[in-house]
Amino acid sequence: MSDDFPVRVDQRGTVAIWTLDRRDRMNALSRDALLALGKLAREAAVNPSIRAIVLTGAGDKAFCAGADLKERRKMTDDEVRFQIDLYRSELGAIDESPKPVVAAINGAALGGGLELALACDLRVAASHAELGLPETSLGIIPGAGATQRLPRVVGEARAKEMVLLSCRLTADEALAWGLVNRVTSPDRSVVADALEWIHPIAEGAPIAQAAALVAIDGSYGTSLRVGLELEKANYFKTLSSEDRTEGLEAFAEKRKPRFRGR
Ligand code: COA
Repeated sequence: MSDDFPVRVDQRGTVAIWTLDRRDRMNALSRDALLALGKLAREAAVNPSIRAIVLTGAGDKAFCAGADLKERRKMTDDEVRFQIDLYRSELGAIDESPKPVVAAINGAALGGGLELALACDLRVAASHAELGLPETSLGIIPGAGATQRLPRVVGEARAKEMVLLSCRLTADEALAWGLVNRVTSPDRSVVADALEWIHPIAEGAPIAQAAALVAIDGSYGTSLRVGLELEKANYFKTLSSEDRTEGLEAFAEKRKPRFRGR
């Protein structure tokens, strides 16, 4: 794997599989890794052959060990500031992707690694995975979105607990907290499990899925009244789609719909 483009790209049917591949650094997020992920997310957003994305890490030790601390040590303060902006833009491209993105957490997801998983729509964890935010124990705070995204997922009290105590959760604890959607049984690969689990997404109606993501993601920090308007506007996006007609016809004809993303 080239270190300039440290993400391996595969496609299984309509699902793209992106594997962060920097095993010697526990798949830590270097600047090149961040740029690669952002580039892939922007390309996937306009690629009709991709209906969903599974994001994972190489090997079984780490999904991603967060910021590349070896690279970070050599950075000037200005370079660190630039890097923090890159987290916002490149992880933002994943967060705002119209294609559902699933983190298949194959091992440790620490610091920026957990923040990467939080930028995804859904999270599946291997049973041996551990999830944590060690930043305050290193004298910094999470800078890739966790102070904002984590409380939205697990609530304020648990987010503060994770950030202030720098505790590491097991996969089962993360499931109990709602931080991950699913834990894969130990005898299975987390990617295979995620692919099987998201089959309904890969086969589903892309316009409806993208509209639902915009409506849900846009609901934060807004009043219920404004949020319901947002839901209505996004519902209307599906009204004129061929997929909606196909869904109704398939129901009437008692068959599986064939969604084409139109
Ligand atoms: N950045 C750069 N390199 C990293 C790294 C990171 N975030 N995390 C691990 N590595 C490197 C280690 O330095 C080591 O390199 P070396 O062989 O040259 O010494 C290699 O990856 C293997 O790491 P090691 O700690 O020996 O593996 P492990 O299996 O015992 O533990 C982790 C794996 C992920 C639990 C552990 O590496 C860890 O806790 N990493 C730090 C995570 C962290 O604090 N991230 C938040 C940053 S804000």
